[in-house]
Amino acid sequence: MNGGALAVEVAGLTKRFSAKRRGRQWLTPWRRLPPIEALRGVDLAVDKGELVVLLGPNGAGKTTLLKVISTLVRPSAGRAMVLGRDVTRFGPEARRNIGYVLAEERSFYWRLSCRDNLRFFGVLEGLPARAALARADELGSLLGLTELMGRDFGSLSTGQRQRMAIARGLISDPPVILFDEATRSLDPGRSERLRRIIRKVLVERENKAVIFATHDLEEARVLADRVVLMRDGRVAAEGSYADLEAQIGSAFREESSGEEAEFRRLFPDLEVSL
Ligand SMILES: Nc1ncnc2c1ncn2[C@@H]1O[C@H](COP(=O)(O)OP(=O)(O)OP(=O)(O)O)[C@@H](O)[C@H]1O
Ligand SMILES: [Mg+2]
Repeated sequence: MNGGALAVEVAGLTKRFSAKRRGRQWLTPWRRLPPIEALRGVDLAVDKGELVVLLGPNGAGKTTLLKVISTLVRPSAGRAMVLGRDVTRFGPEARRNIGYVLAEERSFYWRLSCRDNLRFFGVLEGLPARAALARADELGSLLGLTELMGRDFGSLSTGQRQRMAIARGLISDPPVILFDEATRSLDPGRSERLRRIIRKVLVERENKAVIFATHDLEEARVLADRVVLMRDGRVAAEGSYADLEAQIGSAFREESSGEEAEFRRLFPDLEVSL
C-alpha cells in the first residue's frame, strides 16, 4: 500500500504555541503574550533510503518538526504525511510506521528491567511477545546493552538510557525513523557506531527514511545525504553539507552574535577563542 508515496512529506507546516504568562500575571492580565512561532511554513520531502540531517541552532524548530511528524504535536496549519497518509487523520498508522528517538526520554518504566521495557514497547507496537523478546535481545546486543538487559532501567547511566531509547525506536522495525540529537550523551566510540548503524544498516541496507536532528556541524557533515538548515522556524537552505557550508557557518554565528558581543563587553581581555 502507498508503495509510490514519499516516506515523509511536509507542506506549509506551521506551529504556533500559545505563550503562557507565569508569575505576576494577575498584575497585567490584559497584556496577552504573542504566540511563539515554532514552525513558519516548513516544506520537506524525504524519500525511502535517504538520510536527511535537520541542522539548526537552538530554538530553530527541529524538535517541533519531528514531534509534528510523529503525531506528538498537532500542527496549526499545513500538513505532514507519512507514506502518503496525513498524520493528523491517520495517527495510529503513522505511529506504526515511525520510530522516534526523543531527545528527552521519559517513557520507560524505571522499576522494570531493560528487557521487559523493550519487550513491553515491542508488544505495544504490535509484535507477538516472543518476537518482541527476540528483537529486544538482538537490538540489545547491537547497541551494547546485553549485560544490562536484566537490570532496572532506573539504574542505568545517561548514555545507557539513551541506547535504550534508540533500541525502543527501532523495536518494531519501522520504515521511517526520526532521531532527535540521538548521540548527545553517547561516548565517541558509540556515537560513531550509531552513525554507522544509521548510514550502513538502516539507510543503505534496509532502505529506511531517516531524519536526524542535530546542532552539531561535524555530525551533519559526516552523516547527511542532504542537509536541511533550519532557522527561526523556517527552512533556510537545503543541499549537501559542502554546498551549504558557508551558510551553515553564518547561520550559527549570527544566531548567537548578541551573546558573543556581551561576552566581549564583560571580558575584553579574553577575546581570543579557545
Ligand atoms: N511546548 C512549547 N510551548 C511553547 N513554546 C515551545 C514549546 N516547544 C517549543 N517551543 C518553542 O518553539 C521554538 C522551537 O523549539 P524547538 O524545541 O523545536 O527547537 P530546536 O530546534 O529543537 O532547538 P534545540 O537545538 O535547542 O533542541 C522555540 O522558540 C521554543 O521555545
Ligand atoms: Mg530540539
